Amino acid sequence: MAWFFLLLVFLIQAMPMKLQADKNIFILAGQSNMAGRGGVVNDTRNGVTTWDGVVPPQCRSNPSILKLDAHLKWVKAHEPLHGDIDTVKTNGIGPGMAFANSVLEKNLGLGVVGLVPCAIGGTNISEWERGKVLYNHMMKRVKESLRDDGGGTIRALLWYQGESDTVSLSDAHSYQNRVRKFFLDVRADLQSPLLPIIQVALASGSGPYIEIVRQAQLGIDLLNLKTVDAKGLPLQPDGLHLSTPAQVDLGKMMADAFLQFVPSSNTNMYDNVSPIRNKASSSIGLSNCVSHIYMVHLFITFMIYHNDVHNFLVDV
Ligand SMILES: *[C@@H]1O[C@H](CO)[C@@H](O)[C@H](O)[C@H]1NC(C)=O
Ligand SMILES: *[C@@H]1O[C@H](CO)[C@@H](O)[C@H](O)[C@H]1NC(C)=O
Repeated sequence: MAWFFLLLVFLIQAMPMKLQADKNIFILAGQSNMAGRGGVVNDTRNGVTTWDGVVPPQCRSNPSILKLDAHLKWVKAHEPLHGDIDTVKTNGIGPGMAFANSVLEKNLGLGVVGLVPCAIGGTNISEWERGKVLYNHMMKRVKESLRDDGGGTIRALLWYQGESDTVSLSDAHSYQNRVRKFFLDVRADLQSPLLPIIQVALASGSGPYIEIVRQAQLGIDLLNLKTVDAKGLPLQPDGLHLSTPAQVDLGKMMADAFLQFVPSSNTNMYDNVSPIRNKASSSIGLSNCVSHIYMVHLFITFMIYHNDVHNFLVDV
């Protein structure tokens, strides 16, 4: 009876090893089309915007998809993903959940996905400059995302922004230098010079210089930067925001782009590409492992002892 109890203790002890698997962390940043406006309808009589609440199967919650909420806590992710982040606007479907579901579907061994939503609607690239509010807010969230229980590894930055930089010609012309600097600053501050970045080339814009910004995006030459082209994806009646089906497609395209960084059946490659890990996670893993080994030892010792006692009793 006692050994059965000990076996139970041993099993409970071994369990957290699985639960504390490293999170695969993705930073989601940019403006409204990253935050998500899919399914947001504007009542033109009173200008009130509401989300239709339609969540396509590709965007459904999944126990393996978490998000860092506005209070810096990991919670189960659900649409609208940026609901507590881009609080001034009405949020709907963005690419994040479709991305996460698609990555998990295509890479079964990946484990847990941790999304860090940071996008804010209507923001221009100058507002994302290093040291400004949006940049600091994002960095704070990313650093907190590594601090929490279980640890994790930053896998990539997902970036969809530039619509606000299509209004003035000089902003459009400055876009490439500004976004390039932003990418390099993020990598430098995360001490991850090769952090994978997946950016979206614009499908739309608030001004007339969309094509200039698109060409700037398509022309950035950085290692480990992949560009997914949203041009042609269906827009909502406002002509600016991607529809829900468009966001589902975009999420899948971004997942495919990310998976190109990961050769199949070689998950170690991740660590070469993106070396930022949380040290706490490896120490938790180690102490867990040590206690696990210790319990195995205890269990075997007990079994031997138990057998000896048993044999002794039988002998007598
Ligand atoms: C909603 O529609 C009204 C009227 O067409 C417009 O003035 C307003 O800017 C729109 N609001 C949003 C958030 O799209
Ligand atoms: C960016 O947006 C901010 C806030 O709306 C504004 O003050 C600033 O002039 C804009 N900068 C550029 C370069 O467009």
